[in-house]
Amino acid sequence: MNVLFSNMFLFSLIGICVALYYTIQFIAFYLLDSDIELFILSKLGKPIDTLRGKVVWITGASSGIGRDLAIILAKHGVRLCVSSRKLSELMKVKQECLDASRGYLHANDVFVLQMDMLDIEHHGKYFKQVIDHFKTLDILVNNAGRSQRAEWHTIQLKVDRELFELDVFAVVNLSRIALNYFLKNSVQGQIGVTSSITGLVGFPNSATYTAAKHALHGYFETLQNEGFCVDVTIFCPGPTATNFLQECFTNKPGEKINQRTNPGDRRMTSERCAHLYAIALANKTYLSWAGRCPMNFIYYIGCYYPNVKRLLIKTFGIANLDKLRNGQPLGSN
Ligand SMILES: NC(=O)c1ccc[n+]([C@@H]2O[C@H](COP(=O)([O-])OP(=O)(O)OC[C@H]3O[C@@H](n4cnc5c(N)ncnc54)[C@H](OP(=O)(O)O)[C@@H]3O)[C@@H](O)[C@H]2O)c1
Repeated sequence: MNVLFSNMFLFSLIGICVALYYTIQFIAFYLLDSDIELFILSKLGKPIDTLRGKVVWITGASSGIGRDLAIILAKHGVRLCVSSRKLSELMKVKQECLDASRGYLHANDVFVLQMDMLDIEHHGKYFKQVIDHFKTLDILVNNAGRSQRAEWHTIQLKVDRELFELDVFAVVNLSRIALNYFLKNSVQGQIGVTSSITGLVGFPNSATYTAAKHALHGYFETLQNEGFCVDVTIFCPGPTATNFLQECFTNKPGEKINQRTNPGDRRMTSERCAHLYAIALANKTYLSWAGRCPMNFIYYIGCYYPNVKRLLIKTFGIANLDKLRNGQPLGSN
């Protein structure tokens, strides 16, 4: 009788613990604006300050997440190369970085590099300019990229090719140059990859972009597993209030969505996203994500509960998912 009673007690205890574990986990999914590991690291992990003095190259640093990441790193004394196509915008970012560092960084510590990522043939030349300037590189953050909004069946193949050229092949090529530099010079380097929620979940109405971000996961997870002396951090922002939707690809080559951010935008701020990205880099996480409620919830369901994901997409509806992604209220037209 006693044995039966103690077994029942043990099973009840296990049952309660499992129920409690899932309840806490689901509440965390819902309340946090990042994955649970990143949340814990933001409280107990290495602070961004541990990157002080390092040389970080951020591509696509003229606006949005790249710009804000540069500013937050500058605030913590990180030396920077900021690159993109728009020189005038980069010069403004440089000044903002110098201001944010409150005298810690000097003009030479922020190197402005005008560079089109699509100029793949000259990536080696651009890389050399950064090394000539700083004599080293610690972290390459592959952030430049463009999104897409289009229905699957209408997308012209030329768009698939153009988007992959920028969001995948340019990133892979520059990273290979960096990796070879790290290996040749025995530098324990790090590569940051700005992926997206679409790198984890097949998001409706963005097939090429989703495929491109999935491709990045394929390339860089393999690099993580090949055992090179390089740390790879894949960071997946959820919907973030940047000018992203202006430059967004559609289904036709040369066309852009041209949609501006509106004042009532509900997406995560670019500053918050960049802050979480900086924590992920400082802690060399393998895979981190960020996104305002309920995006974090969708990430977890999408990654770990595929059947629930399908049910959710069906009940929630593609139109509502699009609204969430574009920062619009759910009831709006
Ligand atoms: N915002 C979001 O909701 C969101 C969500 C998930 C992931 N992301 C990812 O975050 C990254 C940054 O996006 P963002 O939201 O910050 O958008 P953004 O403000 O439009 O920034 C894009 C950056 O990429 C640069 N860029 C674009 N084409 C380029 C090219 N051919 N050569 C060099 N640089 C180029 C742009 O600079 P120039 O125009 O000066 O060249 C700009 O600095 C992207 O990889 C994107 O996929 C964004």
